[in-house]
Amino acid sequence: MSHWEKKIDINKVFVLQTPRPITYFGVGAIAKIDSILAEMALKGIKNILVVTDSIAYKASGAWNSVEPALNKNVKWKHYDKVRPNPTYTNCEDAAAMGLDFKADAILAIGGGSAMDTAKTAAVLIKHPGKKAVEFYEKGEPITGAVPLILINTSHGTGSECGYGAVAQSDGEDKPAIFSPHIFSTYTIEDPALTATMPTTQTISTSMDAVNHALEAATTITTTPYCIELSKEAIRLVITYLPTAIVEPSNLTARYWLMYASAIAGISFYQGMLHITHVMEHAMSAINTKVTHGDGLGILMPAIVQEIYPAVPEVIADLFSPAIPGLKGEPSETDFVVEKLRAWCHSVGQSTSMAGYYSEADIPALVKLTMASSLSKVLLPLAPIKVNEAVVERIFKNSL
Ligand SMILES: [Fe+2]
Repeated sequence: MSHWEKKIDINKVFVLQTPRPITYFGVGAIAKIDSILAEMALKGIKNILVVTDSIAYKASGAWNSVEPALNKNVKWKHYDKVRPNPTYTNCEDAAAMGLDFKADAILAIGGGSAMDTAKTAAVLIKHPGKKAVEFYEKGEPITGAVPLILINTSHGTGSECGYGAVAQSDGEDKPAIFSPHIFSTYTIEDPALTATMPTTQTISTSMDAVNHALEAATTITTTPYCIELSKEAIRLVITYLPTAIVEPSNLTARYWLMYASAIAGISFYQGMLHITHVMEHAMSAINTKVTHGDGLGILMPAIVQEIYPAVPEVIADLFSPAIPGLKGEPSETDFVVEKLRAWCHSVGQSTSMAGYYSEADIPALVKLTMASSLSKVLLPLAPIKVNEAVVERIFKNSL
């Protein structure tokens, strides 16, 4: 029996199975796009808005299969201006193109930015006249969205498995929306589409998956299902990331990294997230050179320093493939943090934000973290009480 099993509150009732997309997973899954579009056309979907950035849809190889399938089955228009950390304007521009075209479904190809833009546009198309800010910041209820097809070309976001989206506000905030209406109808996860990812992105997206897993397994809303999914996700990243770094086109490594990302995504959409994602959003909002996964990887050891004493049984189990022999006791905290830093460095992940920030930036980072929309939703889910002093200490310990 894992140590954490004894600490599970058996009187806590949770939703084991939330609604799910139909997800085609495996090398060659991209070929499913033709039958998906044929089936949607049979159901009356005629006009599809394609949402991508300017690079990944082609660089991944997805377009070689998607373009002929679109031409064969439906009419389509292409919005290709998604930027990293998509803005409200990005989402509204995509939706405007969709409304003009009378799009009755959206197909996104890319990573989290393309998928989240598509999800937001799918909501906006169903609520003509409304702006993104109304859903992201003013509590406007989401009462529908046009159907979504998501083709994932990275292995980190988990967005393809979930019912949330994130966008950059008109200021420095990165709020999120959550609604069952933005679950995709179909998702395609084809590891071959990730084989051209650059090494830095391979590392940072894998760090995103690891942190989804770590946070979801240690929230106060976690479940046995989350912990098991998270444990397997982290084991797979520890096992296969080193191979993907030295041999980017190794499809076995890419398969397991994509699978790790997917199950970490399922875990976080059930257990939710806590401190790391809130603090990282402040980092990348202030300095857009910080990629999401890199920021998370930098913060992770200092976060574990804070939370390990509260949830040692779970974290010891999660990281046992990299740090064997842990007993799951609070006294191991410093040892675990040291080993975790060593593991990060072994896969090329920095654990210092000195490349982006100095000590003088910490007050602004703390302020933005505490003032962000996500802090109100996610910080109360952390396994410890999180106040300004905790956040400041984590940033300082990450310098
Ligand atoms: Fe993330």
